Amino acid sequence: MMSDNPVKPENTGRRQFMRTASMATAGIAASLTSGIQPSQASPVNAPASCNTTVGDNHRMLGKLKVSPIGLGCMSMSSGSYNPPRTAKEMVPVIRGAFERGVTFFDTAEVYGPFTNETIVGEALQPIRDKVVLASKMGFKFDENGQRAGRDARPESIRKAVDGMLKRLRTEYIDLLYLHRVDPNVPVEDVAGTVAELVKEGKARHFGLSEVSPATLRKAHKEFTVTAVQSEYSIMERSVENQVLATCEELGVGFVPWGSVTRGFLADKFNEYSRFSDDSRFASVPYFTPEAMVKNRELLDMIRQRAVERNMSPAQFAIAWLLSVKPFIVPIPGTTKLHHLEEDIGAVHTRFSDAEMADFRRQFAGIELVGMRPDDAAETDK
Ligand SMILES: NC(=O)c1ccc[n+]([C@@H]2O[C@H](COP(=O)([O-])OP(=O)(O)OC[C@H]3O[C@@H](n4cnc5c(N)ncnc54)[C@H](OP(=O)(O)O)[C@@H]3O)[C@@H](O)[C@H]2O)c1
Repeated sequence: MMSDNPVKPENTGRRQFMRTASMATAGIAASLTSGIQPSQASPVNAPASCNTTVGDNHRMLGKLKVSPIGLGCMSMSSGSYNPPRTAKEMVPVIRGAFERGVTFFDTAEVYGPFTNETIVGEALQPIRDKVVLASKMGFKFDENGQRAGRDARPESIRKAVDGMLKRLRTEYIDLLYLHRVDPNVPVEDVAGTVAELVKEGKARHFGLSEVSPATLRKAHKEFTVTAVQSEYSIMERSVENQVLATCEELGVGFVPWGSVTRGFLADKFNEYSRFSDDSRFASVPYFTPEAMVKNRELLDMIRQRAVERNMSPAQFAIAWLLSVKPFIVPIPGTTKLHHLEEDIGAVHTRFSDAEMADFRRQFAGIELVGMRPDDAAETDK
């Protein structure tokens, strides 16, 4: 597993200051940058000390109304980024997110596998009708319950969804994604199967994950796609090659995963961080020791830009995504309520077009290492 305590030789005190300042001044940042006022809405059952909420802001993914920032639940149980957490530890984080105005929750059958949906289902049961629950299918599992390739045949999707509904303790999934395209099953057949599930009341909307624009068009022709979910951040921008434009043209929402680049843009790692071979991070090209040394330049730039606006780097990264297009809804993943509060603090900031152009000019001069090539966006992953 990765080291829990990557060496942080500098900036820790400064970063803490930035975060504290950011919490205190999120409202000021809002009025300076966007004219969007912090919401006056009270959080539901929030402790008195909590002053960071999403408020009553919302965004639309197609025709689906969601909070402008959702919660990615993957790392709560999968052991992907940290040792798996228990339901006892994670249910309060998910409910705490709701209490702070988050109404959009992201999980998948393969996270765990299965255990993530169990935690999310338990957490959301008492508030099920007040939230938008997204989950993903499309993998097969061996006799030990471990992932064993892709399987999006209609009968497999149906079987998967029945299991998902049980674990999620619900009669319907608001947004049912195909997690990865199965090369052996035309995406039109997947769309047709989801259309039937929608008719039967087991799903409400259809989503696709890590698809090419061509696949998105084919699926959308068969049955309306509500959202595409793919990796996107200031650092990993390959979906800017046609994917976002196709979503915009078709009226499809976009849900970026990795909005804080799996922790890197949240200042969780630096060039001294090292991961053991069995850690998922070890296989990520932008987390090699060489890449982290090079990519630190972008992080330093973001730190500087963020502090100018009394934001933390994570907030800057999320606010940047919110500023790219109004149909983008980031779902930063976290296992910690204080990180969630920090992340949703980004909701009140929108950068102007001039600021975005200025940031882009600066990013363009930084050579990043380990990113997907631009043409990766043209293929299904
Ligand atoms: N469709 C797909 O193929 C796909 C792939 C991957 C993920 N996803 C979904 O997208 C969600 C988000 O993606 P992701 O989790 O891969 O990447 P992410 O949101 O960029 O990063 C999550 C990591 O960042 C850390 N983090 C978040 N906020 C932080 C903060 N303010 N300060 C310090 N660290 C912070 C978290 O650690 P802590 O727990 O310590 O806060 C966690 O390890 C997932 O939960 C999952 O639901 C989808």
